[in-house]
Order: sequence, then structure tokens, then C-alpha cells
Amino acid sequence: MKAYVCRRYGGPEVIELVDVQRPVPKDNEVLIKIHATTVTSGDWRVRPLKVPKGFGPIARLALGITRPRQPILGTELAGVVEAVGKDVTKFRPGDEVFGFPGGQMGCHAQYRVLAEDGPVALKPSNLSFEEAASLCFGGSTALHFLRKADIKAGDKVLVIGASGGVGTAMVQLAKHSGAEVTGVTSRANFDLVTSLGAERVIDYAKEDFTVRSEAYDIIADTVGATSFARCKEALREKGRLLAIAGGMPEMLASLWVPLTGSKKVIAGPAEERPDDVRRLADLVETGVLRPVIDRRYKFAQMAEAHAYVETGRKRGSVVVSVEHVS
Ligand SMILES: NC(=O)c1ccc[n+]([C@@H]2O[C@H](COP(=O)([O-])OP(=O)(O)OC[C@H]3O[C@@H](n4cnc5c(N)ncnc54)[C@H](OP(=O)(O)O)[C@@H]3O)[C@@H](O)[C@H]2O)c1
Repeated sequence: MKAYVCRRYGGPEVIELVDVQRPVPKDNEVLIKIHATTVTSGDWRVRPLKVPKGFGPIARLALGITRPRQPILGTELAGVVEAVGKDVTKFRPGDEVFGFPGGQMGCHAQYRVLAEDGPVALKPSNLSFEEAASLCFGGSTALHFLRKADIKAGDKVLVIGASGGVGTAMVQLAKHSGAEVTGVTSRANFDLVTSLGAERVIDYAKEDFTVRSEAYDIIADTVGATSFARCKEALREKGRLLAIAGGMPEMLASLWVPLTGSKKVIAGPAEERPDDVRRLADLVETGVLRPVIDRRYKFAQMAEAHAYVETGRKRGSVVVSVEHVS
């Protein structure tokens, strides 16, 4: 099969399209013929090893010292089950599915295997492969952090980076929990963020949310634009700062901040739960969540997709269709 491999850390030019062995499903696995994948902020963090502050040495140990240990990037996919292992009962060849190996990656390829009890679910019938492929990275991150924040109906929530992959899911899911949502983005994204359910939108180029008189129960910083020191006055009593793009300083703050009062900082990697993949399918089918796609690329344009995602300006997701020409 064809796959993009990354044999050293670097710019978009380091990914190379090569022939690799097509994986063979074990007894409990399904082989998926991939029709669509995405390039996410997760890919541009791994490819050049550009990780949040203080995580460099840990990231090298976890991901590979001189190059990614998993050379095939790509955190999410949608496609068709091509074959199943002998113990698989939940899927059959021909099923349309989507999946989220997340940090295990391996989706920038024509095929991938996933365990039937793993992060894979039937594709919602109202979504295209491209839309389904784009659901999990932002969706499961938003589910994780909102769960950690114990969001409740009536909470006032500020989403910084409301137009990004994580932010577009966060706005919709916070709204679904009954929260009153304010988004922070640039002027060009106001209509998008309002259409996702935000009551108010703040243009970060014109206004600093910390100098307003508003205070929030939850500040979800999806882009690393603030810190607890900067936004603590904008948090209500028992307020939570979700430092989604946070580094070591935010990890440390999550330990000391609760010792100093009622407020909290929640940081660290989001858990990747197979149940969340199925939950995202339900949320789409019930009309709660809709995917937001910015640009679409062909498989041959993978490096261009990486370069665009690395600008940090994408709206929602960037999808890549995976062709299978014989
Ligand atoms: N903790 C975890 O487990 C976890 C999981 C997933 C992602 N992350 C991290 O979360 C971050 C965001 O991921 P993503 O996929 O959502 O990124 P993304 O899609 O690339 O975010 C891009 C969006 O952010 C907006 N933005 C940029 N700077 C901003 C600012 N100062 N204020 C408000 N909006 C701003 C941009 O809007 P404009 O064009 O208007 O600037 C753009 O729409 C990444 O650093 C990623 O590594 C962490």
C-alpha cells in the first residue's frame, strides 16, 4: 500500500510517499481501507517535534529520539472495512466506519488495522467520509476537557481559539451542556463561531478578554494564548482554566493553583477513549455536533496540507482524501 512516512523531524518536505506492507488484521482486528484522513495540530507537533514549552525531552522519549518511532502520521480516518479477524463480531467487510488511533497515528496511509473494541465506530450515515474523518481529534479533546471541568448547565464558558479544530467542537459541546458560550477568534471567523452556538464573539486582535468586567466559570484556552496569572481575575469562584495547549508551566500550575484558593487549572494530554468515538457518532446523529471542514486536499497534496495546518490559521479541520487507483 501507499503511505506517507516521516523518517526525520522537520518541515512538510520530510514526509515521503512510499510503498509499505499492507497490515494484516489479527484475530480481534478490522482492516480498514481508508477513504479520508486529516492533518491536525497533532501532526504538525510531531513532524517537526514542536511541542509545548518544557515537553521537549519527554516528547523525544515518548515519540522517538531522532525521528518519530511511528513513521506514519495521521490521527484519524474514515473508510470501509476490507477484512476482519476471525474473532471479530461487531463489524463486517463493507461496513463504513471512522476511527481515531490518536497518538498511535498511522492514518496517512491507504489501510490501517484497529481492534474491534478499539477507537472505531460505524460512520454516521448522514456524514461523508471526509466529514467523519474530521470528527475525533477536536471532538474527543473537547469531550475530555469538558468532562474534567465538570461543565454544568448555566456555566459561563469562554473558548479561546473557538474557530480551530478543538475550539469548534468545544463551542458546540459546551452549548449542548447548557452553557452560555463566548468565543475568542479573529473577525473573519465571527459568523462561523456564532453559527456553532456562541452567544458572543470577541476579536482577539481588538480586545483583551481579561480587561473586560466579564467573568467565566470555564476558560478553555485551545491555543495557549493565556495563563492562569493573566486570566485569574476573569475566572469566577471555583472557575477552571482548561490549558489545552499548555506546557510544563501549566502542568505545574494544575498542582499549585488549587492549593491557593477555589480555582483550578486543568492541563495535560487528553485521554483517548474508544467510547468517545461512539459518543461522537451519537452526537452527530442527534444533530448536536457538526463537523467543520476548512480545506480539502488530495492524497498527493499531503505536504501542502501539512504546510497549511502549520500556519495555525485553519478553521475546524483539514481533510485529505485517500485515493486507491489500481
Ligand atoms: N491537551 C491535548 O491532549 C491536546 C489535544 C488536541 C490538541 N491540543 C493542542 O491544542 C491546540 C489547538 O489545536 P487545534 O487543532 O484546535 O488547532 P488549530 O485548529 O490549528 O487552531 C487554529 C485556530 O486557532 C485560532 N487562533 C490562533 N491564535 C489565536 C488566538 N491568539 N486567540 C484566539 N484564536 C486564535 C485561529 O484563528 P485565527 O485565524 O482567527 O487566528 C484558528 O482558527 C494545539 O496546540 C494542539 O497541540 C492539545
